[in-house]
Amino acid sequence: MYTQSFSVSDEPGKQQKAVLSTESPELMARFDARIDADGRIEPQDWMPEAYRKTLVRQISQHAHSEIVGMLPEGNWISRAPSLKRKAILIAKVQDEGGHGLYLYSAAETLGTSRDQMLDGLHSGKAKYSSIFNYPTLNWADVGVIGWLVDGAAIMNQVPLCRCSYGPYARAMVRVCKEESFHQRQGYEGLLVMMQGTEEQKAMVQDAVNRWWWKCLAMFGPPDADSPNSAQGMRWGIKRVSNDDLRQKFIDATVPQAKVLGVTLPDPDLKWNEERGHHDYGQIDWSEFWDTVNGNGPCNKERLSTRVKAHNDGAWVREAAIAHARKQQQRQIKEAA
Ligand SMILES: [Fe+2]
Ligand SMILES: [Fe+2]
Repeated sequence: MYTQSFSVSDEPGKQQKAVLSTESPELMARFDARIDADGRIEPQDWMPEAYRKTLVRQISQHAHSEIVGMLPEGNWISRAPSLKRKAILIAKVQDEGGHGLYLYSAAETLGTSRDQMLDGLHSGKAKYSSIFNYPTLNWADVGVIGWLVDGAAIMNQVPLCRCSYGPYARAMVRVCKEESFHQRQGYEGLLVMMQGTEEQKAMVQDAVNRWWWKCLAMFGPPDADSPNSAQGMRWGIKRVSNDDLRQKFIDATVPQAKVLGVTLPDPDLKWNEERGHHDYGQIDWSEFWDTVNGNGPCNKERLSTRVKAHNDGAWVREAAIAHARKQQQRQIKEAA
C-alpha cells in the first residue's frame, strides 16, 4: 500500500517496534482525551514522540510512494496510443507529483525537512509502496494501474481523510478526489481496449493477471501479522484493518471485472453467501517481502531513475532559490 508504515519499517529487515512513551502523564491524558473524542491534533499541539515519529514515517512513505509512483506510468507518456490518452496520462502523472508535494509539506509540519526525507528515499533507507517495483510491460498496464492500483489506493486512503493528524487528513481529501479520477480513467481505457481486437483483449487480461495479486498485497500483511496496526488504530491514524480493506477492495472489484469481461486470476475466488463476502486464495507473502526488501524486478531501476531526476533538477532548485533571494532583496530595497 502507499502507507505501509505499520507493517514495513524503514530499517531494512526489521519490523517496526512499538515505542513506549515516557512523557508527562498530564499532557498524555489531554492528548488521549482529544483522540478519544475523535478530535484533530494540529502541528502546534503537544503530541507524544512516538505518535510524531509514526506519522513522519507514514506520511513520508506515502509521499515517496506518490513520487516513485510517477515512474512506471511516466514510461508510457511518450508511447501513449493517442493524443487524448497522452494528455490524460500526463495529467495523472502530474497529479501524483502534486500528491507527493502536499504530503512532504504535511510531514514538514512535524519537524522534519524535505531534504531529510529525500535523503532517506535516495539512500534506500526509506520505503515506498512495493507495487511500484514491478514493470509496466504493455499499454494495458497503464489502464490496470489506474483501475486496480489507484483503486486499492483509494480504498486505503479514504479512511485517512479522518486521520487524527489535521494536516494529513486535510491533504487526503483532495488526494482522494484526484485518485478517483485516476481509477476511472484507467477503467475507461480498459473498457475501450476490451471492445477492440483479440490482441487488445489479450493485453488487458495479461496485465490483470500480472497485477491482481500484487494489488491485494498492497493492503499489507494479514491482521494477525501486523502487531503495530493496533497502536495506529488507537491513535486514530489507521482506521480500518489491512484484511478488512483488502476484502472491501475484492468485493468492489469483482463486479467491475465482470463488466469489463476479464477473469481475475484466482481459482478460489467465489462469493460466500454466509459471510456476505468473496472468499479468495493465498497471497504469496514471500514475494511481497522480497520486493519490500529491495529484490523486486525494478527496485534498483526505480531508485536510480529517481536519484538521477533529483540530481538533474538541482539547477531548477538553485535557480528558484536565487530568484527568491533576488525578489527579497528588491523588496528590502524598495521598503528602505
Ligand atoms: Fe496519488
Ligand atoms: Fe493516483
